Amino acid sequence: MTTTETPPGPRGLPLVGNTHQWARNPCEFRERCAEAYGRVVNYEIIGWDAYMLTDPADVKRVLEDRETFPKHSGGNEQLSEMLGDGLVTSEGALWERQREAIQPAFYVDNIRRYADVMVSRTEDTLARWRDGGTVDLRSEMMRTTLEILVEAMFGDDIDLEARGIYDAVEAMQEPLKPRNQPITFLAPDWAPVPYLRRANRALDHLETQVYDILDERRGSDTDRGDLLAMLLDSDAAMDDEQLRDEMLTFLFAGHETTALALTYVWDLLSRNPEVEARLHGEIAEVVDDRPTVEDVFAFEYTEAVVKEALRLYPPAHEIRREPAEDVVIGGYSIPEGSLLVLPTWVLHRDERFWDDPGEFRPERWIGDREVPRASDAGGERREPRADRPEYAYFPFGGGPRRCIGQQFAMTEAQLVLATTARDWTVEREYDDLDLSAAVTLRPKGEVPVTTRRR
Ligand code: HEM
Repeated sequence: MTTTETPPGPRGLPLVGNTHQWARNPCEFRERCAEAYGRVVNYEIIGWDAYMLTDPADVKRVLEDRETFPKHSGGNEQLSEMLGDGLVTSEGALWERQREAIQPAFYVDNIRRYADVMVSRTEDTLARWRDGGTVDLRSEMMRTTLEILVEAMFGDDIDLEARGIYDAVEAMQEPLKPRNQPITFLAPDWAPVPYLRRANRALDHLETQVYDILDERRGSDTDRGDLLAMLLDSDAAMDDEQLRDEMLTFLFAGHETTALALTYVWDLLSRNPEVEARLHGEIAEVVDDRPTVEDVFAFEYTEAVVKEALRLYPPAHEIRREPAEDVVIGGYSIPEGSLLVLPTWVLHRDERFWDDPGEFRPERWIGDREVPRASDAGGERREPRADRPEYAYFPFGGGPRRCIGQQFAMTEAQLVLATTARDWTVEREYDDLDLSAAVTLRPKGEVPVTTRRR
């Protein structure tokens, strides 16, 4: 094979390429491509020349070299319009400085402080549930994780409802859904697209709220110990615009993913009663009164349940990068400026690395330290298993831009799950989850369940 060869891939249509196949079901499309074409697959979506990598060693190379493989500029542009230059979208020296300034907020000692917030806000949610009542699980989990995030990050005196933050955060997600992406990307600013207008209004609203919170904070001298206090105190001396970008970034990146993970956990538990029974067993054995962060350090099966749900349904179903120069990967040349797709979903279900990949089997994680535990400081340690390559599993990404909230999310998911599962179980009122792979992998509609007190 010569290094100038273009990788194989599915045939597309003139002008639209493979956009129509991708928009219908991105996960299925990528799985079919991986099966049919192998290590590197070339396709075209929304005018982008895309290269999907299905070898974990290639994923590792890309994620661990942020100079050669920065974030994809197209995706970043869409997000930057909303989030400015926060941690998710910035690059280079700015990103480095911000990551260093923000990292301490996620040290284990600080996550310890957030644990009580995680349990208390879950208890608020459960106080609204009725035995035999119906709730939309996805929005219950979204509300819970948003309340946890806002309190841990910005303090305990922010009324989400009164400030309209919940609805605004929801409206901001709309333009990023796959069926909307071609329009979002191509429509000029003045185009009368209703969801774009709503998203813009929501963004204005959030911006006002964020500046309001900043003003209130600057006017008070109480020591709070939350993320915002650390940002305000940090040596990085951020101006208001940078602070706004970081606050919006955390509102955007810090709650939906965990809410989705919890929704998938419950969906999977409701289909696997023997797993749920074993989970209850561990929670009863470990938790005394209310779950604590020490309990999370002691959990083994509860953690395995969360990891396994993140394997089957990774909320970040693909990660995107863009080569800053022409590169050769797997013997194929990939041009500078193309879209590199690292398909979490595909690798998490690859038979080369997983026995019965479609099965929900938390046992496979017992004794496995591939993802650092909530108690590991810093979160940079990985101990891959001998029989599975690193990056066959990467729900939180990897390398320098690995999710800063990984320990926060793993602690939160286990505390919300333990607090809920102690007294409640849910029964599905639907058959199958109909999923849409937007920026995150999310259910298309509501996820109705009957709540039962145990
Ligand atoms: C189950 C829950 C979560 C999942 C699956 C998840 C997934 C990810 C992934 C895959 C990335 C890397 C994206 C890339 O490399 O392009 C990322 C980055 C990030 N995540 Fe998370 N995340 C979760 C929870 C959280 C939470 C709770 C927070 C904040 C409290 C958070 C904040 C961030 C931020 C700020 C970044 C950008 C980091 C950087 O580029 O330096 N995430 N997340």
